[in-house]
Amino acid sequence: MNLRSLYIVGTGGLGRGIAELLKSINASDPRWIIEGFIDDNTGTVGRKVNHLSVKGTTDRLLTVEKPSDVVLAIANPAVKERLIRKLKLNPYLSFPNIVHPRVELNEFVAMGQGNIVTEGVVFSANIQIGSFNLIHFNSTIGHDVVMEDYSTIYPGNNISGYVKIESRAVIGTNAAVLPSVRIGKDAIIGAGSVVLKDVEQGATVIGSPAKPINKISNSIRGDNS
Ligand SMILES: CC(C)(COP(=O)(O)OP(=O)(O)OC[C@H]1O[C@@H](n2cnc3c(N)ncnc32)[C@H](O)[C@@H]1OP(=O)(O)O)[C@@H](O)C(=O)NCCC(=O)NCCS
Repeated sequence: MNLRSLYIVGTGGLGRGIAELLKSINASDPRWIIEGFIDDNTGTVGRKVNHLSVKGTTDRLLTVEKPSDVVLAIANPAVKERLIRKLKLNPYLSFPNIVHPRVELNEFVAMGQGNIVTEGVVFSANIQIGSFNLIHFNSTIGHDVVMEDYSTIYPGNNISGYVKIESRAVIGTNAAVLPSVRIGKDAIIGAGSVVLKDVEQGATVIGSPAKPINKISNSIRGDNS
C-alpha cells in the first residue's frame, strides 16, 4: 500500500479536530502517514500537540521534495488564500479534499481541491464546490448550491437551494440562508442569522432577518440615516 505523507497546517482547535478526522479516514481507508503539524507560530515548533509533532513553519513545506499532501486547517479565508499562494510554489505539494467517511457525496456533487467537510454534513444534488472551502459539522447544503473558493461555513448551517456563495465568505454558526440568495465575496454572516436577501460583497450581516451590522447599530442608537 502506497501511503502518502500528509502535513496539517494549523495547531488550533480546528487543526486538532482535523487531525482526528484524518485518523478516522485512515481507519476506514488507510491513505496517509500523518507527519505532523505545521504552524507559523514559531512558539509551537518542536513541540507535540495531541501526540503529533509540530514540524516547522510553512517555510518548511517549501523544502519538501517528495509528493506530499497538505491540509490547511485554517478558517480565515484571507489567511487560507495567502498560504495557498505560497504553498503552490512547491510542485510536490497537493491539497486533497478531506471528507468525513460518514458524509455521503453523490455523483452530482462536484468539488475542486483542498476542501474540508466534517462530520454530519449533508449534501443534496447538483452542487458545485470550488476549492479550499471548509464546511463544518452538521451543515446542510441544498440542491444547486454554488460555492466558490476559500469560504468557511461554520457548524449547523442550512444553505438552501440555488444559493451562491462567492469567494472568501464566512457564514457563522447556525445561520439559515434562504433559497437563491447570493452571498457576495468577503461577506460575513453573523451566527444565528436568517438571510433572506442577497448580501453585498464585503458586508457583515446579522440577525433575523439579516441586516448589515452598521444599520443595526444605527437603529439601536435611534439613528435611521
Ligand atoms: C457578526 C460577527 C462577525 C460580528 O463580530 P464583530 O464585528 O466583532 O461585532 P461585535 O461583537 O462588536 O458586535 C457588534 C454588535 O452586533 C451584535 N452582534 C454581533 N454578532 C451578532 C449575531 N450573530 N447576532 C446578533 N447580533 C450580533 C453585538 O451584540 C453588538 O451589538 P451592540 O452594538 O448593540 O453592542 C460575529 O459576532 C459573529 O457572529 N461571528 C460568527 C462567529 C462564529 O460563528 N464562529 C463559529 C466558531 S465554531
